Amino acid sequence: MPCITVALGLRSYDVVIEAGVLARAGALIAPLLKRRWVPVVTDRNVAAAHLPMLLAALDAADIAHDVLVLEPGEATKGWARLAALTEWLVAQGIERSDHVVALGGGVIGDLVGFSASIVKRGCGFIQIPTTLLAQVDSSVGGKTAINIAAGKNMVGAFHQPALVLADPATLATLPRRDLAAGYAEVVKYGLIDDAAFFDWCASNGAALLNGDAAARAYAIAHSVAAKARIVAADERETQDIRALLNLGHTFGHALEAATEYSDRLLHGEAVAAGMALAHRFAAEAGLCSASDAARVAAHLAAVGLPHDLTSAGVADDGRSLAAHMAHDKKARGGAVPLILTRGIGQAFVSSEYGLDRVAVFLDGVRSAER
Ligand SMILES: NC(=O)c1ccc[n+]([C@@H]2O[C@H](COP(=O)([O-])OP(=O)(O)OC[C@H]3O[C@@H](n4cnc5c(N)ncnc54)[C@H](O)[C@@H]3O)[C@@H](O)[C@H]2O)c1
Ligand SMILES: [Zn+2]
Repeated sequence: MPCITVALGLRSYDVVIEAGVLARAGALIAPLLKRRWVPVVTDRNVAAAHLPMLLAALDAADIAHDVLVLEPGEATKGWARLAALTEWLVAQGIERSDHVVALGGGVIGDLVGFSASIVKRGCGFIQIPTTLLAQVDSSVGGKTAINIAAGKNMVGAFHQPALVLADPATLATLPRRDLAAGYAEVVKYGLIDDAAFFDWCASNGAALLNGDAAARAYAIAHSVAAKARIVAADERETQDIRALLNLGHTFGHALEAATEYSDRLLHGEAVAAGMALAHRFAAEAGLCSASDAARVAAHLAAVGLPHDLTSAGVADDGRSLAAHMAHDKKARGGAVPLILTRGIGQAFVSSEYGLDRVAVFLDGVRSAER
């Protein structure tokens, strides 16, 4: 069974990646528990598809459980649900030594993780990610957050899970569009520092999306290993190492803001277009070859992901898109560090370029697309 350890000293934990691991969740969780009880939090879609299997697995290991089912969707990741969830955990009698189980995608994982970081000043939590995005990215690394009026993920905490159980078989029920959006984050690991993995994606991405179980398992394990390595080196993003995971995200956030964080453009879709734009920006700045930038855009297009402004459904001009970037969490003194690249697998953090330059670039992209 592929098991990857996120090495963080006393806060180290395992990520188990195995088709069917959901059915063994009780046995894997039991050793972490002081008393045999867990609260389980999920959303309605995931509950319909996968909650019975998890509850049966807990029953089989004699672990009692209480369940809270929330509404699916990004709106759940806000103050109202955070308050309700945290009050619910207290009402269930949660103690610091207990572990809350988050069964679902990044929305459930981020919300539950944040609540676990504050209830009784912090209790344990276990991630059981059920989207590709959550399995390759959000369930690992301990970033938890909610959205507030001023922006996405603006309020949160670093709080590492005690265990992550990623069951690729749960992806069988995930809508194709969510699957493709999560795949963008897989490609990201190749583009950051692993050109050979980008080559693998170019050859196997379509099969992965069409249901190839071996390709899915390989991509998840490879992505988690990359994320574990990056998080272990720079847990709190105080160096320029973890920041590389934001490749495509600064451009992407501008696109998400322009589409009002709605289902017109999913997070992973915005990241896909953002990665293509970051490579194109780097090519125009003379940092990376035009052919590498074209290869990135072509692969994203081939798997049906947005790869420019038009395919992202964004009509805004460069100035207004750049203005969204100024509100990025990472913005400092009017400048936003960009993740740029010297070629596929050679990403780096750059503070060389101001938002004026980015605005001109985006207007150029827009005119070329007309
Ligand atoms: N913490 C981090 O490091 C990190 C990293 C990346 C993204 N995120 C956050 O993750 C969130 C996006 O996560 P997501 O893409 O997983 O979205 P999501 O949690 O909203 O899930 C997408 C949709 O799929 C449904 N679903 C989930 N699993 C399913 C399954 N197996 N079968 C059928 N339907 C299923 C959900 O109900 C939802 O409708 C964003 O809020 C983003 O900010 C966090
Ligand atoms: Zn992301």
